[in-house]
Amino acid sequence: MSRPLLIGNWKLYLSPAKSVAVATALRRSVPHTPRVTCVVCPSFSSLPLVAPALKRTDIVLGAQDVGLESAGASTGGIAAADLKALGCRYVIIGHSERRATGETDAITAQKLAVAQAAGLLPILCIGESLAIRRRGKAKAFVLQQLRRSMARWTKGNLVVAYEPVWAISGHGNRGICTPDDALTMAQAIQGVLKTRKRRQGVRVLYGGSVTAATIARYVDGKRIHGCLVGRASTYAAEYGRMVKALTR
Ligand code: PGA
Repeated sequence: MSRPLLIGNWKLYLSPAKSVAVATALRRSVPHTPRVTCVVCPSFSSLPLVAPALKRTDIVLGAQDVGLESAGASTGGIAAADLKALGCRYVIIGHSERRATGETDAITAQKLAVAQAAGLLPILCIGESLAIRRRGKAKAFVLQQLRRSMARWTKGNLVVAYEPVWAISGHGNRGICTPDDALTMAQAIQGVLKTRKRRQGVRVLYGGSVTAATIARYVDGKRIHGCLVGRASTYAAEYGRMVKALTR
């Protein structure tokens, strides 16, 4: 069984100053050489400040998105190589909060290729809306999203995060995806990866309202290898408790 993976997605919850404060506090709340791979993804504006705060720790830096352009006339662009130079090892791609602004599977697939080419490890997010789940089409939708978003991926390390949109906190959602439902979907995702002989180097995560109290129930080490956590990951003590909960 590979090491569990805990990825904190700080979204825009923390200002740059607060991001540094949380990163500094993580130095105390996360044990040295944890038996969990620990990643945090601060906002873009916070990255250059958080990177030095995490130096000489076992906590790895990630970004929340990447642009398609590498240089030139791209207003607001975010170059993959620059993320790498800032110290990022991971990058979240296709998060539902990005897809809600019009990002398609085709764009996500392109971003995945751009990230890989720059040597960043992509965290590909997929997940259905409540309306789709209510229509009984969740599995078909998620697997199609997976196939399309991975269209340009051939090999290399990849993290796939199953995040049902209706279970993500902060959108007025009250839905909780049970560990059983998450594991069932993860099994289907593993099936697609396996039939395409792509399982090697691919880890599957769950995300959506996970806390220290619930995290261990989602991670069985076979179908789900860790969690992508939003709000709860912005509290250093809670992050530390999640690491502990995943330490077997
Ligand atoms: P949440 O967010 O843990 O706050 O629900 C998860 C995510 O969107 O990655």
